[in-house]
Amino acid sequence: MPRLRQDEMPDRYDDKSRGPRLQRILAEAGVAARRVCEKLILDGEVEVNGRLVAKLPAFADPEIDHIVVQGRPINRRSRKIYVMLNKPTNTITTTADEPGMDRRTVSDLVDHPAAERLFPVGRLDFDTTGLILMTNDGDLANKLTHPKFGVVKTYHAVVKGKLSDEDADRIAEGIYLAERKAGRTSGASRTARVEVKVFRRDRDRTILELRLREGRNRQVRRMLASVGCPVKKLERVAMGPVKLKGLPRGGWRELSKGELDGLRKAIARGKGEPEIVRKKVSKKTKKKVSKKTSSKRSYRVEEEQVSIVDKKRLKSAVARSGKKSIKQTGARRYDSGTNR
Ligand code: URA
Repeated sequence: MPRLRQDEMPDRYDDKSRGPRLQRILAEAGVAARRVCEKLILDGEVEVNGRLVAKLPAFADPEIDHIVVQGRPINRRSRKIYVMLNKPTNTITTTADEPGMDRRTVSDLVDHPAAERLFPVGRLDFDTTGLILMTNDGDLANKLTHPKFGVVKTYHAVVKGKLSDEDADRIAEGIYLAERKAGRTSGASRTARVEVKVFRRDRDRTILELRLREGRNRQVRRMLASVGCPVKKLERVAMGPVKLKGLPRGGWRELSKGELDGLRKAIARGKGEPEIVRKKVSKKTKKKVSKKTSSKRSYRVEEEQVSIVDKKRLKSAVARSGKKSIKQTGARRYDSGTNR
């Protein structure tokens, strides 16, 4: 049954859809043992939202109801809430817009009973879509966004133009972006390693995935613009192990226990997922490749090199060569690019 917002709730406390039993809430807040709390209620010592509640059963929502016992508000140990929102475009990542502006905010879209206390974890641009977490857990939010913990954020981008292998490499290795403080440029610093995977290149656009461990202001857009491929569409599809799946645009849901555990593990390991590593090409290979081919090809060679441990690809290399065995084909040399 959908939970009612406080302003939609009837002003009564005998409706169990409202939340847990009042004596349980009091006991969990450390007022007294549950039996004693029942007596306190029946003795007329308890008020909910300014109204005396002296009958049992009584139910309340510890997240939103203001509960007072013998004139003192109870110690609210507010439940930690973790929500995933699939942010649409034209939505600002804040709980309230600046005065005079009337843009839709991420909070406007999350119709959770505790919505007014949830804040976004990190930020997506007005036009960026996809996964944004919202919580009232400041500690977790901080760890998810702090580069020290390196939780990976995965983006899918559609950019204008053909992103070359060389430029994909430049972004992956780190490029210099201006730093801004208090609205002024204060030097430039190199971005941390990014994993770049090109899914598709068309005549006038490229579709790719980027996995970042840091989150500078408009970082993806600025990196891609700096190599002449401005972003047309950008979507965040994952944060650490938590993936945006099965949620319509503008929809939200609470994270599952498994997802939350996954995020905590990612933070504890100091990394969101397997290490982002640049595939290394040996000096020898680089030399051979640069003599014979363009550096565009060397990017592909890196992938081939990794596949040397991949038996299937070795087999198909053998098949393509028309020879009988791996030994005969000199597959290692083939994979390191010399026979291409
Ligand atoms: N990088 C960007 O450029 N924009 C976003 O919204 C998120 C990451």
